[in-house]
Amino acid sequence: MSANRRPLISGNWKMNHNHLEAIQTVQKLAYAIEKDDYEAVDVSVHPPFTDLRSVQTVLQADQIPISLGAQNAHEAERGAFTGEVSAPMLAKLNVAYVIVGHSERRELFGESDADVNVKARAVLAAGMTPIVCVGETLDGRSTGHAEARITEQLTGSLAGLKADAVGDLVIAYEPIWAIGTGETATPVDAQQMCAHVRARIDAMFGAAAAASVRIQYGGSVKPGNAPELMAQPDIDGALVGGASLDANEFARIVKYRLYQV
Ligand code: 13P
Repeated sequence: MSANRRPLISGNWKMNHNHLEAIQTVQKLAYAIEKDDYEAVDVSVHPPFTDLRSVQTVLQADQIPISLGAQNAHEAERGAFTGEVSAPMLAKLNVAYVIVGHSERRELFGESDADVNVKARAVLAAGMTPIVCVGETLDGRSTGHAEARITEQLTGSLAGLKADAVGDLVIAYEPIWAIGTGETATPVDAQQMCAHVRARIDAMFGAAAAASVRIQYGGSVKPGNAPELMAQPDIDGALVGGASLDANEFARIVKYRLYQV
């Protein structure tokens, strides 16, 4: 990763941990992650909505420099949208990062690139940073369409955004076939796709946005493979699912730089 892009290691808890388990996990993280780690790496956790207030309180009370994240947001500020949560509601809880367009939202809840686009805009408008997810299916990869699919997702998901906003956001490249399967893209494959993401950002928004946008890799990131993934020049962070549920395992990923590649 590049010296002028601060790495971001994010834990996407998905639909795991009730608020009591969430408090315990964050308290364990507070012990396991040290000052030196925070100096080198940004860290975020993305609990379910029902945990956010509890986690925010613990982070604030104990002055833990972990950023609070959410997993989704509705694009409207308020209104008759039963079951949804708006970006300004999340901002009020000190949420800093919001994942938008996770492949599970796209595949299981039918979110399109246009949906992801309006959500990213709402998150930006509320003063938070979107983590915009893209990734190809196994079919897309085996038929040689991975790069085209990523290009299409980036084009739709980031349409109409200003170049300086794009430079400040986070893009997560998560190949769907590597999520929760134990299969990881090889560091070379992950690097190649993250370089493709950066090249597309350059083409769409210019060199400055491409140089500063942070690109995470996600898909079966574990303590054992994190150092080699993070050593790739276009990988600036990790979006971690399963391994982020255990505080010690997640802390070892945060400390990737202590392990030799
Ligand atoms: P896993 O790390 O469990 O493969 O999940 C990746 C992911 O989807 C993170 O958003």
